[in-house]
Amino acid sequence: MSGTAEPSVKEIFETMEYGPAPESAEVAQAWLQRHDRLFGHFVDGRFVDPVDGERFATVHPGDGAELAQVAQGGEADVDAAVRAAERALPAWQGLTPHQRARHLYALARHVQKHARLLAVLEALDNGKTIRETRDIDVPLVARHFYHHAGWAQLRDSAFAGYEPVGVCGQVIPWNFPLLMLAWKVAPALAAGNTVVLKPAEFTPLTALAFAEIAAEAGLPAGVLNVVTGDGRTGAALVAHEGLAKVAFTGSTEVGRLIRQATAGRGVKLSLELGGKSPFIVFDDADLDSAVEGVVDAIWFNQGEVCCAGSWLLVQESVATRMEEKLRARMETLREGPSLDKAMDIGAIIAPVQLDKITRLVEQCRAEGGRCYQPSWASEAGGVAAGGGLYFPPTLFSDVAPSSTAAQEEIFGPVIVSMTFRTPAEAVELANNTRYGLAASVWTENVNLALDVAPKLEAGVVWVNCTNVLDAASGFGGYRESGFGREGGREGMFEYLKPAWEAGLEPYAAGELWSGPEGAALGEGVPGLDASGADAPGTDAAGTDGAIDRTAKLYVGGKQVRPDGNYSYPVLGADGNHLGEAPLGNRKDVRNAVEAARKGAAWSKATAHNRAQVLYYLAENLDVRAAEFVTRLRAMTGARKADAEREVAASVQRFFLYAAHADKYDGAVHATPLRNVTLAMPEPWGVMAVVAPDEAPLLAFVSLVAPALATGNRVVAVPSARWPLAATDLYQVIDTSDLPAGALNIVTGDREELAGVLARHADVAAMWYVGSADGSASVERESADNLKATWVNSGKRRDWFDPEQGEGAEYLRRATRVKNIWVPYGE
Ligand code: NAI
Ligand code: MG
Repeated sequence: MSGTAEPSVKEIFETMEYGPAPESAEVAQAWLQRHDRLFGHFVDGRFVDPVDGERFATVHPGDGAELAQVAQGGEADVDAAVRAAERALPAWQGLTPHQRARHLYALARHVQKHARLLAVLEALDNGKTIRETRDIDVPLVARHFYHHAGWAQLRDSAFAGYEPVGVCGQVIPWNFPLLMLAWKVAPALAAGNTVVLKPAEFTPLTALAFAEIAAEAGLPAGVLNVVTGDGRTGAALVAHEGLAKVAFTGSTEVGRLIRQATAGRGVKLSLELGGKSPFIVFDDADLDSAVEGVVDAIWFNQGEVCCAGSWLLVQESVATRMEEKLRARMETLREGPSLDKAMDIGAIIAPVQLDKITRLVEQCRAEGGRCYQPSWASEAGGVAAGGGLYFPPTLFSDVAPSSTAAQEEIFGPVIVSMTFRTPAEAVELANNTRYGLAASVWTENVNLALDVAPKLEAGVVWVNCTNVLDAASGFGGYRESGFGREGGREGMFEYLKPAWEAGLEPYAAGELWSGPEGAALGEGVPGLDASGADAPGTDAAGTDGAIDRTAKLYVGGKQVRPDGNYSYPVLGADGNHLGEAPLGNRKDVRNAVEAARKGAAWSKATAHNRAQVLYYLAENLDVRAAEFVTRLRAMTGARKADAEREVAASVQRFFLYAAHADKYDGAVHATPLRNVTLAMPEPWGVMAVVAPDEAPLLAFVSLVAPALATGNRVVAVPSARWPLAATDLYQVIDTSDLPAGALNIVTGDREELAGVLARHADVAAMWYVGSADGSASVERESADNLKATWVNSGKRRDWFDPEQGEGAEYLRRATRVKNIWVPYGE
């Protein structure tokens, strides 16, 4: 530095003027130099040249300077990496949990050893500030590997009955390149899987450095492979048939594409997508703390944060004061070179992102939002003199809830604000978004905070804090913010599968009924005449002299006629005509979902209350056991003893989930800060279940009971071939105090009804047990609202086997975990 132009320390001390405090880039530049600023992919423990030789530049967004040339991965590169991961799998899985734990521990140690290189390299490649990479990103990365060294050690005891999935393909974004790597890689390896990771095209360098460090730390070749490139490389990776699991963090649009690309392949999927996370300030909040909270919420990492508190909701009576304080604080923020240790805000990742922010801000202005930027902003906006990409901190007020500014994820240092009057209004506003990643609640009243937190449809709720992350706590979204969790126990399940799944065989040909379309869809058997009288039924197999009736649908606590007024014949195993079942259609499904939506009382009922109702269901089914035995025998041709066994098992299953209803509860995580971090399993809300044909009573109960026990309202499609065991349950349900809308039953063509449910925007989660094709289309068609799905991929379960027909996996899949952070102390 020349010295003459710069003020002396004494002058700075007297004027308290800002003086630059640059961190040296040398450690990172030396590392780049050592690689001749030219990188291949990291495959099988070493750097390899890209097969077709194509490369592109990665730059420092602070000045546009090229840092290195990296490889653009093609299909052949991806294939080589997946094959390397496949080859490494047996030896890696052959290690003891302790040996794998030692490897994860070594990764944590080596991250710490190379902390400076990683922090500087990250700041250069991304443009974020060194203060954040050094104090937040890199320590959290090390923490993540330490925490997962623990899970590796404990895997077989903490996750008994589960096993690793296999080769994992992981695609990550540019906003937290190394941290997202840690979130993906640590649980995958801890569970006993191998990995192919694709970092974002703007920020590939720390992933390459990490791969090299992992090799230095003794991680066996092929366990972690890194293929660089843009979205085409990501698409090639997620399309590779060698993968057992895909994990993605990034935009909701690409998340949808990946949902579609992985449909029907038996691939486990987790998606961490975008957000528009509310930051709610109640009138009794400590406003100064709340202002610092906003700084952390939206000006941390330039606002390029999926869980950024980008949507400020302030109680009317304190809104003016809050805005004044916020404006004053914005004046003191500093934006500039990422290696300057005193900077609060660094550069935006790339011109395309700066354009997007600029365009959305223009739109907010045009829509009438009042825009505030600090007085120094004019110097900062757009492409600064040095070629850096900067956007000033920006606050919009008087924004309408439906405006672009309030609905779109801007992914930049821009916060929009609006006011509310009552807590109820705050909740309603906060939930008025298609996303649901995070929320932040500010109040000194713990009653209010803990009343509001469960009502917010978001995967993470921070009380009087924001953007707090730790490896011991799960992180992930509701709704279009994706599904699956990263971190903690919940996150480990994303990389494990129940051991029983491995032994399942596909259905035999003809075992699953192809549906009534041949029998009834074309011709239509009018089941109900205009007068509403039941069509004449034939005697049910002549047993007990039961007079058969045409069944109805069960919607909103009532038996209702199907919209189309069509029914289809239900035939017994011997070909006898046993009766008629309604042929439900799209409209019937919509009515059922609407009834379930309105049945919210069931989700709010106490767990004790839900247990009671499930016990009643069990008891009332038991009372009518003989009728159900007769019905099952007539339909399936089962021997008496087997039918009795099925009814008894169904009674037991209701009992089992009654037992679980008030015991499947949450946890308090041991996060390192002064926090109580509550992990609460919550119901999805409206869930759909589609049952197979075999064991028509037991399979139905096995799918419906766990969903109900955990507080979901259910739309269920019973066995298409033998639906009468489910329709016979109506009387059982009616005498069991199950509130209207909690369970709705639509009979008909399995695949047609499943399709309508998979596409329905108000269904949050769906289980499908049926054919392989049906499983594929449920996964594909669920992409629209990104509902969480659980399908059987055409494999047959033994419903009588407690391992396959009940238990932990059912309960886990019936819920999603919300993590609520409550700090304490001063
Ligand atoms: P993106 O979703 O396109 O990129 C994320 C990752 O996915 C990158 O590694 C990219 O190469 C890869 N990718 C892109 N297309 C793919 C495909 N078809 N198949 C597989 N992988 C693919 O996000 P992008 O373009 O970087 O940013 C666009 C917007 O997305 C941002 O403005 C922001 O709003 C949002 N975003 C959200 C993030 C979050 O954490 N929620 C992270 C990054 C971006
Ligand atoms: Mg870069």
